[in-house]
Amino acid sequence: MTPEDFDRLVRARRSVRGYKPDPVAPEVIDRALEAALWAPSNCNVQPWSVHLVSGETLRSLGAKMLAQAGAPKPDVPMDTAYTGVFRERQIGSAVALYGAMGIARDDREGRTAAFQRNLDAFGAPHAAFIFLPENFGTREAADLGGFVQTFLLALTAQGLGSCAQGALSLYPDVVRDHLGLPAGAQLMVGIAFGHEDPDHPANAARTVREELEGMVRRHG
Ligand SMILES: Cc1cc2nc3c(=O)[nH]c(=O)nc-3n(C[C@H](O)[C@H](O)[C@H](O)COP(=O)(O)O)c2cc1C
Repeated sequence: MTPEDFDRLVRARRSVRGYKPDPVAPEVIDRALEAALWAPSNCNVQPWSVHLVSGETLRSLGAKMLAQAGAPKPDVPMDTAYTGVFRERQIGSAVALYGAMGIARDDREGRTAAFQRNLDAFGAPHAAFIFLPENFGTREAADLGGFVQTFLLALTAQGLGSCAQGALSLYPDVVRDHLGLPAGAQLMVGIAFGHEDPDHPANAARTVREELEGMVRRHG
């Protein structure tokens, strides 16, 4: 693989929010999960655990979460108020998505409906729910970031679409109940994945990134 190949792969990944219903072959999913296992972690503790939810089990889980919509109870609070440049970037991503979907800024109902598509994993045939062990904190949560990105890239390399979704972590009690999981591990994020529906308007959304010089200060 050349550096150019790697750059292409990284830039080919983007959040996909509309899927074909067709399932992904188990060996393709396992290949991506195997790759993600090779992410680095503090002291190699590998703090991730994954619950893979597919097909009708995912659809019925989505329906249950939708029934709870409006009363989120995430294991890890999701209440950071973005200000300044972070708020500008947050708005930029919303403008890209809602613009692609033709939803006006003052269309509250349209926005709510678009957000609620999250809870059904955007109709994807699969979603991976990523948990962090009980009492693990911010440092170990950072390890999950490497796991998630490696998984997303491995899916991209196999021609699949994906979307990391904090929204899939909003109702962890519903997820635990639906999957028969004990209390304890913290649900951090879900990842929808499958074959992209190229005709879904949400998939026309494109985000941008800061210039390198805006993000990096060089010392020495
Ligand atoms: C941890 C994490 C949580 C995210 N949660 C959501 C989400 O709940 N819903 C959603 O539509 N996108 C979600 N995203 C996708 C981001 O909006 C997206 O990565 C960002 O806007 C950049 O766009 P791109 O992925 O297309 O490059 C999440 C991404 C990450 C990394």
